[in-house]
Amino acid sequence: MGAGKTTLGAALAERLGRPFVDADAAVEAATGCAVADLFREGTFREHEARAVAAALAGREPLVVALGGGAVESPAVREALRDAFTLLVEVDADTAWARVAGGDRPLAQDETSFRELYERRAPLYAEVADAAAADVEGAVLAAGGVHVESGSLGRLATLVPGDAAVELVTDARVAGIHGMEAQLGLGGRARATHEVPAGEEAKQLAVAERLWRGFRLDRDGVLVALGGGATTDVAGFAAATYLRGVPWVPVPTTLVGQVDAAIGGKTAVDLPEGKNLVGAFHWPVRTVIDPELLDTLPEGELLNGRAELVKTGLLLGERLWELPLGDGIRLAAAFKVAVCLRDPYDRGPRQQLNLGHTFAHALEAAADFSLPHGRAVALGLLAALRLSGVDTRDVERELRPEPVRVDRDRAWAALARDKKASGGSPRLVLLDAPGRPRTGVEVPPADVRAALDSLIAG
Ligand SMILES: NC(=O)c1ccc[n+]([C@@H]2O[C@H](COP(=O)([O-])OP(=O)(O)OC[C@H]3O[C@@H](n4cnc5c(N)ncnc54)[C@H](O)[C@@H]3O)[C@@H](O)[C@H]2O)c1
Ligand SMILES: [Zn+2]
Repeated sequence: MGAGKTTLGAALAERLGRPFVDADAAVEAATGCAVADLFREGTFREHEARAVAAALAGREPLVVALGGGAVESPAVREALRDAFTLLVEVDADTAWARVAGGDRPLAQDETSFRELYERRAPLYAEVADAAAADVEGAVLAAGGVHVESGSLGRLATLVPGDAAVELVTDARVAGIHGMEAQLGLGGRARATHEVPAGEEAKQLAVAERLWRGFRLDRDGVLVALGGGATTDVAGFAAATYLRGVPWVPVPTTLVGQVDAAIGGKTAVDLPEGKNLVGAFHWPVRTVIDPELLDTLPEGELLNGRAELVKTGLLLGERLWELPLGDGIRLAAAFKVAVCLRDPYDRGPRQQLNLGHTFAHALEAAADFSLPHGRAVALGLLAALRLSGVDTRDVERELRPEPVRVDRDRAWAALARDKKASGGSPRLVLLDAPGRPRTGVEVPPADVRAALDSLIAG
């Protein structure tokens, strides 16, 4: 009581694009009686259990806000067994301050309210799969994402289960954070596999080396410690080894923490192009430790900052102005929500490509010598210009500078891009910050002019 379950539940449902059911409201709708009256009659719990079971029996995923006492009923606890159950954290003082003076039958007297709080706490702990205090925390928990400084040091407790763990890390990260990861895994660490640092890791030959080196059985867990290149190849190896073993990315770059390690996309490259072979394989947990970024070179930070600004524009919040750890948490929650709405990239997830059609074209025209973050900064500039949205934040935060590449090559690459269908390129644009629109058909001449403005000379 007083935790804010209804408010948070409604906000969570909105973020995940799922229907929302408030158990109390469902009882009132089903019986035509007020909760307080049913309580006096002594039939409320029975109606509540029926309403919860009915809501959870549907096939469509949805968010249900339970009443505070619902878990006292064994029928509800049984119904929750297959659901993901989130405890909304609140301390007794805050809860009492919120409900005191109201008309809730069980919140009329402070002493008995506090007794109830103490009595129910162990029940909540028993049924909850995770706990959260705000909507971002709820989204992150639903996606299995844990964001906390210092979590590398206690990895063993954050990797679900108690099975043996094999670690994949890149050669550079191994030298920086490998030892702490080993210590954090404690007795669960079984073996460590190194892949080359950077994009070189994303090759089929590297995946094959991993497959052949693994000694995991199906219960074993693969932990991938590194940037997006490491988590992409390790995730792909996890998706395919024994037709899929559980995996836990521990991203060590800003790109990884706000983007690459979230959402279950894994891949290797082919000589014909990037990310052409891969699989969707949602991690059993993602462990984000912002402290790991302390050792990241400035250029790599800049790559991540471009994705952070992109996310802030999609979300309509100035994430880049927050302390980095807070920005990471909100950006990660945003990506988790979008990917939970659209795990297989069939619709809403395409908004994450904001600025990327231009970025990919410039990268291809530069034979991939252009850092992704620099390309995205330019791509965002073009997308905002075509959207008629102010570009000053992007200019101040990312300082995009025109690149020297061949204009015709860049244009040809853009036209070939998979987002171009039929005649006109389809782009992600913003009606305003926070209001993305996908699949916008833009006249080719306008797109070409926007692309040209990103190219120097
Ligand atoms: N799967 C997805 O959804 C997704 C999304 C975005 C990007 N990606 C992929 O991610 C890759 C890019 O990832 P990235 O930008 O993280 O680069 P990266 O993995 O290539 O790492 C960049 C460099 O930073 C080093 N490094 C990593 N962590 C460090 C740390 N904490 N301290 C010091 N050095 C460190 C690495 O050794 C490497 O040399 C691309 O291959 C891209 O395709 C995937
Ligand atoms: Zn990107």
